[in-house]
Amino acid sequence: MAWHKVASSQDVEEGNVIEVKVGETPIALYNIDGEFYATHNICTHAYACLHEGYVEDETIECPLHQGIFDIKTGEALEGPVEEPLETYSVKREGEEIYIEVPEE
Ligand code: FES
Repeated sequence: MAWHKVASSQDVEEGNVIEVKVGETPIALYNIDGEFYATHNICTHAYACLHEGYVEDETIECPLHQGIFDIKTGEALEGPVEEPLETYSVKREGEEIYIEVPEE
């Protein structure tokens, strides 16, 4: 596992999500009440980018078929989704946001 600097804290507004990449891996980076979380950015149901979906409380709703995942755990909560999302550890050092992902 290794930490990768992916963004600055100002890049993600509270209650919002952006896409970042570590190598070839697309990752959704969320700001929930000033705390940062990361999941894989591709829905486990079909092919949709979750950063184009809707953040509500601590969940992300897929823009394609409205599947809902828990942002903190990756758990599939509602809709057609069954497989959980991969989640990643996030740390903040000053303004910089780091995500821990497995070595490729
Ligand atoms: Fe996300 Fe179908 S692609 S719910």
